[in-house]
Amino acid sequence: MFVDSYLKWAAIGLATAQLGAAQTYSSCNPTKKTCPADTGLNIWQFDTDFTSGSSSFSKWNVTAGTVESTSLGAKFSISEQGDAPTIESEFYIFFGRVDVNFRAANGTGIISTMVMESDDLDEIDWEQISTYDTSIETDYFGKGNTTSYDRGTTVTVSTPEETFHTYSVDWTSSRIEWLLDGDVVRTLEYADAVSGTNYPQTPMRIKIGIWAGGDPDNSEGTIEWAGGETDYTDGPFTMYVDSVNITNYNPAQAYKYTDKTGAYTSIKASNGTSLTNLSGTTSSSVSASVASSSSASKASSSSAASASASSNMTSAASLSTYSFIFATAMVAFAVGALQL
Ligand SMILES: *[C@@H]1O[C@H](CO)[C@@H](O)[C@H](O)[C@H]1NC(C)=O
Ligand SMILES: *[C@@H]1O[C@H](CO)[C@@H](O)[C@H](O)[C@H]1NC(C)=O
Ligand SMILES: *[C@@H]1O[C@H](CO)[C@@H](O)[C@H](O)[C@H]1NC(C)=O
Ligand SMILES: *[C@@H]1O[C@H](CO)[C@@H](O)[C@H](O)[C@H]1NC(C)=O
Ligand SMILES: *[C@@H]1O[C@H](CO)[C@@H](O)[C@H](O)[C@H]1NC(C)=O
Ligand SMILES: *[C@@H]1O[C@H](CO)[C@@H](O)[C@H](O)[C@H]1NC(C)=O
Repeated sequence: MFVDSYLKWAAIGLATAQLGAAQTYSSCNPTKKTCPADTGLNIWQFDTDFTSGSSSFSKWNVTAGTVESTSLGAKFSISEQGDAPTIESEFYIFFGRVDVNFRAANGTGIISTMVMESDDLDEIDWEQISTYDTSIETDYFGKGNTTSYDRGTTVTVSTPEETFHTYSVDWTSSRIEWLLDGDVVRTLEYADAVSGTNYPQTPMRIKIGIWAGGDPDNSEGTIEWAGGETDYTDGPFTMYVDSVNITNYNPAQAYKYTDKTGAYTSIKASNGTSLTNLSGTTSSSVSASVASSSSASKASSSSAASASASSNMTSAASLSTYSFIFATAMVAFAVGALQL
């Protein structure tokens, strides 16, 4: 099987992991069943400076491997087969902007990634392939739909493995912009993603990490995409993430899918703090308003979501199912179960 994204790679690891870890594995895809609400970021802006020491990880979970703060930022290293250090935000955002300043890893076949991903597998990516020191890829998925491979683009960037650049995603209900050092390099309109069907539109977490697309155990197609086999004796291969600035266009403590459509219109945002009873959430929840777009509209869009909180909603309900799935996938990978 050909793997050209973090999502698919994790999914494959998962498929393998399930064989051995069925009891401990659980997922909650809100388009398939009723799930706990997602923990939201209830402020407009959240910045992380990863050069500032271990406290900079306060809202980030290390879901695989070891990641530490250094003077160059958060350090993600691959030294041997199975290493795939990854962090993810503890919260979700519902439309917003994410700026990540990073220096990608060097070597052959090492993929440095910034991924935004939702519980129903909407995904927006930046992926740098270490084999090519002049480019980076953009990609997206709607509801985990991987039936075609025409969503990616390649963007020219100068020495991404020696130089820090800022890679951004500005995401609204009507369009997604990918920005390189502040310049828009790609725009995806809602209608252009199969009339919105494939358009990423549900609350997302931010995941950052590196993995070896060129691992000799990967499929031929994956190794080819990664530009060749990774030779671990050339390592360690290291990505440094200087800072991550996140704007949440619909700040809230929780996001709830109110039906199984996975449409953004079905997502309700809430600042409620009491009991965890999600099944009865209807009229008293707050409809998430959709921010109009860029930073120019900051003030208006941040106040757009009205403030009546629903007591049915909870801020602590997220069971972080996907992170667990992800960690499980990593384990599968680490034990060499990934044989495709
Ligand atoms: C982050 O890690 C903590 C401690 O392991 C865990 O309790 C929490 O559920 C995790 N959160 C997410 C969103 O993964
Ligand atoms: C985040 O914001 C800080 C403070 O404004 C700035 O110094 C830093 O460069 C920003 N980082 C990114 C990735 O935009
Ligand atoms: C998946 O995406 C393809 C186009 O890439 C589209 O033709 C197909 O309808 C989509 N499937 C679903 C279930 O949305
Ligand atoms: C990346 O690898 C190339 C070739 O081995 C080397 O010339 C370059 O100095 C390396 N860059 C970094 C940042 O280590
Ligand atoms: C949660 O809400 C449902 C539907 O309103 C109700 O039937 C159920 O008893 C509630 N559960 C708890 C634990 O309050
Ligand atoms: C939740 O509270 C934050 C901070 O006060 C506010 O910006 C946001 O609009 C509120 N969201 C909702 C859905 O009420």
